[in-house]
Amino acid sequence: MADRTPILAANWKMNKTIEETERFLAEFLPKVPDSGPEVVICPPFLSLKTAVEHCMQSHARVAAQNMHEQPDGAYTGEVSAPMLQELGVDGVILGHSERRQYFNESDDALARKVLVALDAGLEPILCVGESLTQRESGETEALLTRQVAADLAGVPDNRLAGVVIAYEPIWAIGTGRTATTEQAEEAIALIRGLIESRSAEAAAAIRILYGGSVKPENAEELVSQPDVDGALVGGASLDPEDFAAIVAAA
Ligand code: PGA
Repeated sequence: MADRTPILAANWKMNKTIEETERFLAEFLPKVPDSGPEVVICPPFLSLKTAVEHCMQSHARVAAQNMHEQPDGAYTGEVSAPMLQELGVDGVILGHSERRQYFNESDDALARKVLVALDAGLEPILCVGESLTQRESGETEALLTRQVAADLAGVPDNRLAGVVIAYEPIWAIGTGRTATTEQAEEAIALIRGLIESRSAEAAAAIRILYGGSVKPENAEELVSQPDVDGALVGGASLDPEDFAAIVAAA
């Protein structure tokens, strides 16, 4: 890996109440080293404030799992960038495959959301990745190319390095079926190449994570690949011991 600081992000999805968040952090935060990889906790919206307060004295940061692109307005059930900013949240996951699949998140909306997040000082963690059908029919490269081009279309080249990309093959999410280190490295190197075609400087600096069934047992090997700058962890991040072991492995 070049001199990019790795990121280990915990995507809790729709898990943990505020009380469970407090319990997790009480156990997990003392295990977070003061230096080394960046650690990001992404709890549900309702736990963000608690998480920010608990993480304040630690090396860990907090990100949301989604946000709306408008600052306010008649969008029932949505949350905006200024609302996240006010809480002291540092970043936001955008375009997770579950949001694309179940909530019709479109590349057009994502292109707007990435820019809004950057403008609000929220580090976007943009998720891209192919389905099993797409992989098996040889469409992985075309799909990743299309997603990266569309979702980052509005970001000027000199701001690309402020985005974090998470390569998450949909067939590896929550399935226990991890991409091989070769598959992860190949896809992430491809994504870095796409960024390089816009800016060599951005390609050298941008952090690209792997996500999909990352566990304490496979984290070290995945994260040691030259282009893999960390991991976005779902299931295994719900357990403080497991997530601490993943952080330690990186
Ligand atoms: P998983 O989820 O680690 O449970 O596979 C990863 C993700 O969806 O971000």
